[in-house]
Amino acid sequence: MKPSKLLTLLGCAGLCLGRSLDGPEAKTSVVKRSNSSADPMLQLSSDPDFHFELLRTLSLAPYEGADAGEVLVAASKIAPGDFEGYSAAFHGLASRVDAAARAIDGRRHSISARNAFSKAASYYRAADFFLHGNWSDPRIEYLWTAQLAAFDAAMALMAVPGERVTLGAGPGDNFTIPAIFFASGRPRPQPTLVVCNGFDGSQEEILHGVGQAALQRGFNVITYEGLGQPAVRRRQGLGFIPQWEKVARPVVDYALSRPEVDSRAIVLVGYSFVGFLAPRAAAFDDRVAAVIAIDGLYDFGQSLLSDLGPSLAHLSKAGNATRFNAVVDKALASPSAPTALRWVVQQGMWSFHVASPFEWLSRAAAFGLADLARHITVPVFVADAENEQFFAGQAKVLADKLGPLATYHRFKSVDGAGEHCSIGASVLSNQVSLDWLEDVLSREGVPPRDGETGV
Ligand SMILES: *[C@@H]1O[C@H](CO)[C@@H](O)[C@H](O)[C@H]1NC(C)=O
Ligand SMILES: *[C@@H]1O[C@H](CO)[C@@H](O)[C@H](O)[C@H]1NC(C)=O
Ligand SMILES: *[C@@H]1O[C@H](CO)[C@@H](O)[C@H](O)[C@H]1NC(C)=O
Ligand SMILES: *[C@@H]1O[C@H](CO)[C@@H](O)[C@H](O)[C@H]1NC(C)=O
Repeated sequence: MKPSKLLTLLGCAGLCLGRSLDGPEAKTSVVKRSNSSADPMLQLSSDPDFHFELLRTLSLAPYEGADAGEVLVAASKIAPGDFEGYSAAFHGLASRVDAAARAIDGRRHSISARNAFSKAASYYRAADFFLHGNWSDPRIEYLWTAQLAAFDAAMALMAVPGERVTLGAGPGDNFTIPAIFFASGRPRPQPTLVVCNGFDGSQEEILHGVGQAALQRGFNVITYEGLGQPAVRRRQGLGFIPQWEKVARPVVDYALSRPEVDSRAIVLVGYSFVGFLAPRAAAFDDRVAAVIAIDGLYDFGQSLLSDLGPSLAHLSKAGNATRFNAVVDKALASPSAPTALRWVVQQGMWSFHVASPFEWLSRAAAFGLADLARHITVPVFVADAENEQFFAGQAKVLADKLGPLATYHRFKSVDGAGEHCSIGASVLSNQVSLDWLEDVLSREGVPPRDGETGV
């Protein structure tokens, strides 16, 4: 979902950096990521990035991935900017809920056990979220193993259990793609969502967003992770690449190999950073029937530069890596460095698998659609968010470049849906985007699913 998310961090982060470079304004360097006077939502932390991440975990509640009360109690224990405290609060919660899940007799109470394991997995992921600044921290591995075990225990208890597969990449590409197939359980071949989370989000998380919503409506769902994403970064040591078609194509091949999948109705769904990567993959694959980008992203490198502000952008363009890294390191070392800045630089370097902020920014420049947009020939749902913190303006650019193929939808703050990726409003986001998809598919002659049964 998040993921992941990129960005505003940068937004904020960048503004702060820009100001700190500019001398006299340095004292005003704490810039909020979002304009809170324009955001009618109750804040879960005075730290805007913690608010966003807490809301993100809370948002998994409508789809079995969290309980609101548990998240709010954990939130009450976390001091603004305290990465260790954030991890400890969720680690404690995850361990307790995991133990409770194990104590349930899953043969007699399978739904209760499934719910509890799902929540434990979400809380282990939350405990990991702010830890990527130190690559040798053993918790990066330990918490992930724990979230996978809890998630798999939950998945085995689904009405139709998800099936994990490992897909090989194309010739010349030395990586594998972890994926999960969730069958609709319907008799005929069904439309299928091929879903990828964002900059920092896992395939497990996204089941509790659009995944369950799509299964409830009778779609099959395939989730996957590519280079730079949680499992591939950890287990294969590989960072993001712009050529996402190398990742998505084998997943579409796999979808087509499954008898449950209606080959006319394979839909790429991308969140956050993958709001660029999924449209890019569609430009290379004419087997895809439609794309959903939440939110749409046209040029990541450009967006990052503009978030960083003119001073840093100028320094980056000047190409002096030593100087650029020194400025960023100094900003990060300041006690008043905003969470958003610290997190995005740490996560950016970790997920791109690069050794310095300069290298990260240099790599980011290749992540733009530019002339590829004209190779997209299918309908694209382009979501935008009124209070977009990370990629302001990008969704509109994508929609404009796609012209009549795009359906542009701006989610509003007054509906609680104005945050990046409409975090906090997954029910509404799924309502609008999946209704759009059902209408698009029926116009293209794909028969409707056989009524809604729920899962
Ligand atoms: C924040 O939002 C308020 C209300 O919409 C608006 O009046 C104000 O100009 C905004 N401030 C900034 C810095 O965007
Ligand atoms: C990173 O984590 C390792 C393992 O816990 C620890 O030994 C090391 O001191 C940490 N490094 C920093 C810079 O905190
Ligand atoms: C492929 O990757 C594996 C593990 O990362 C490595 O051991 C192997 O040498 C690589 N093979 C090639 C042909 O690059
Ligand atoms: C790069 O910046 C460093 C530190 O500011 C400076 O010492 C060095 O001379 C610069 N290198 C070039 C090639 O400008």
